[in-house]
Amino acid sequence: MEENTLAVQYSYDSSENLYPRRVLVTGGAGFIGSNFVHHWCNAYPEDRIVVLDALTYAGNRQNLATLEDREQFKFVEGNICDRTLIDKLLEEEAIDTIAHFAAESHVDRSILGPDAFIQTNVVGTLTLLEAFRHYWNQHQQPDHYRFLHVSTDEVYGSLGPEDPPFTETTPYTPNSPYSASKAGSDHLVRAYYHTYNLPTIITNCSNNYGPYHYPEKLIPLMCINILLGKPLPIYGDGQNVRDWLYVLDHCRALDVVIHRGKPGETYNIGGNNEVTNLDLVKMLCRFMDELASHHLPVKPSMDLITFVKDRPGHDRRYAINSSKLKTQLGWAPLVTVEEGLRQTVGWYLTHRHWWEPLLSEEYQAYYRQVYA
Ligand code: NAD
Ligand code: TYD
Repeated sequence: MEENTLAVQYSYDSSENLYPRRVLVTGGAGFIGSNFVHHWCNAYPEDRIVVLDALTYAGNRQNLATLEDREQFKFVEGNICDRTLIDKLLEEEAIDTIAHFAAESHVDRSILGPDAFIQTNVVGTLTLLEAFRHYWNQHQQPDHYRFLHVSTDEVYGSLGPEDPPFTETTPYTPNSPYSASKAGSDHLVRAYYHTYNLPTIITNCSNNYGPYHYPEKLIPLMCINILLGKPLPIYGDGQNVRDWLYVLDHCRALDVVIHRGKPGETYNIGGNNEVTNLDLVKMLCRFMDELASHHLPVKPSMDLITFVKDRPGHDRRYAINSSKLKTQLGWAPLVTVEEGLRQTVGWYLTHRHWWEPLLSEEYQAYYRQVYA
């Protein structure tokens, strides 16, 4: 799969672009944010990209290393709760678009300690909204300004086996501190459109996978543990279902939403790939055995599968209906789950230098807490 070709193929046609955008990307050093920045810089080299990231445990400047020399790229280390900094960045950089990814994003960490989730996901989003509202008003409310809020399907809660997939009108029923904090931020973003006319758009996406995914999440954790010959911990009976989307397909959807989406709207984004956790892990084992046959401490990797105590409040099933995005804005995912997972397994195999330094003492302490 040639990433750059796919990126260009599914981006907004730049001939429709009236002028280069000036985009503030919050959380741009994290997993999806950094993939988005790479996508955007490839597709729109004339646009200004300013990344604002607090570099928490999940933020990694290495993810952006190949962009650091570009004239139109700037990295700023800072917190989305810092109003003074945001006011200054909006003015100095003449920002017209905010792509808001910054968040505490891991359900298991939210169960261990919800405070940071409320602070960043709710208070941080409010701070950004307030700053953008004042800035937009001061500039006479230009039509083309956008505030894109990147959210999750987890706000909709859990589905039964026969339930239809989530649509944009499914009521919110978040079940974890993480999804509750994202739901709170979604409500604020919505309210800023209805109350102040601020041109906000919300996207709710299913589980992403791909390069630069921090080791604590299911897919990277399993890839890394296979390579290290460590147990593959599956929560409960392994029959929980997630809908998986390749991260660049998500980025292309956000691209289309920024350029063509309607302020005040919500768009669901999903891959239409419902898989149980157990089947997914088996697939990863199979790909790793094929790709790394001589380098694995334990083979077949499936021998490492271990069922562990379930996550509290573990949502049983997510599935998402993205027909609104497809029919109204013309997006469709390009990467099949088979192709995307194989490529991702290959990435973790060849990027040991990226993930090994992340397995720090702090990470090991977190790991013991969750899996002890
Ligand atoms: P991530 O944890 O990999 O990255 C989050 C980034 O935000 C990190 O770089 C971190 O340093 C930064 N950050 C955290 N707190 C900050 C703060 N207070 N100020 C500035 N920066 C801060 O997360 P991700 O998986 O890339 O998710 C990005 C967004 O997409 C999140 O809002 C998440 O809710 C949403 N989302 C994720 C998925 C998924 O499958 N990962 C699916 C749907 C939606
Ligand atoms: P995760 O990657 O944490 O995403 P989310 O909780 O946001 O969906 O987990 C994906 C699924 O994998 C979820 O059902 C929980 C499960 N899981 C395990 O079974 N074992 C693990 O070690 C992890 C991290 C997740």
